[in-house]
Amino acid sequence: MNDSNFIHSGDEKKSQVQSMFDRIAGRYDFLNHFLSLGIDLYWRKQSVKTLELQNGHVLLDVATGTGDQGFSALKAASIEVVGLDFSFNMLELAKKKIDQRNLGERFQVVQGDAENLPFKDNSFDALSISYGIRNVGTISAALSEFYRVLKPGGRVSILEFSEPEGWFFGRLYRFYFDHILPKLAGVMSSKSAYTYLPESVRHFPDRSDFKALLSSEGFQYVKHRDLTFGITAIYSGVK
Ligand SMILES: C[S@@+](CC[C@H](N)C(=O)[O-])C[C@H]1O[C@@H](n2cnc3c(N)ncnc32)[C@H](O)[C@@H]1O
Repeated sequence: MNDSNFIHSGDEKKSQVQSMFDRIAGRYDFLNHFLSLGIDLYWRKQSVKTLELQNGHVLLDVATGTGDQGFSALKAASIEVVGLDFSFNMLELAKKKIDQRNLGERFQVVQGDAENLPFKDNSFDALSISYGIRNVGTISAALSEFYRVLKPGGRVSILEFSEPEGWFFGRLYRFYFDHILPKLAGVMSSKSAYTYLPESVRHFPDRSDFKALLSSEGFQYVKHRDLTFGITAIYSGVK
């Protein structure tokens, strides 16, 4: 597959990603649930469990998009969520959903950059990011910011697509991601966004390299857990 249409690191990647999400925001939720056959709800719930949230905690959900990871976390305990994203249009949809669910007291959104978080050191009890870390310009810059804003003892949970390691699922996955998904998405939304998806997953570090990045930013007890034959993984650590 031609890999030349997208930039996979740095500031140029950031502006490309930001305008892409601004463009597809209106169709994002539908496509998300449709193309994942609804399994994303289960994946999100597993990520929330990893955070071991307790009543009174404040969670930062980075790259919150239309807010689904935050909504999942709000079901787990009596917590507050701050959702951060740099796409104005994704956040407008998150705000609408927060209002519809009457969650304005517990879920606030902020426009900002994952690599330069507008929060003081040691501000949050927990931090989540779902399908966002693959999209940032410089992964280590974002992880360093996550570490900075977490309180000591705070947990990070990172949900991200990964390439299945088994031969059979590996091939099935690549066929779906490279051929079926961009065609389906092309009919309903923006083909380029769903060509970017498999390409960006391929450019994402493998499991052990990504865990090494988390450790090098200072996180302890770093581990990963594969979900659904390894098409998604949860990476976690503690400050
Ligand atoms: C695939 S969506 C995931 C949204 C949501 N977390 C979910 O699970 O549905 C990726 C989101 O990351 C956001 N994003 C990417 N890079 C970012 C950055 N550097 N700072 C803030 N948000 C970013 C995009 O705007 C987009 O809303």
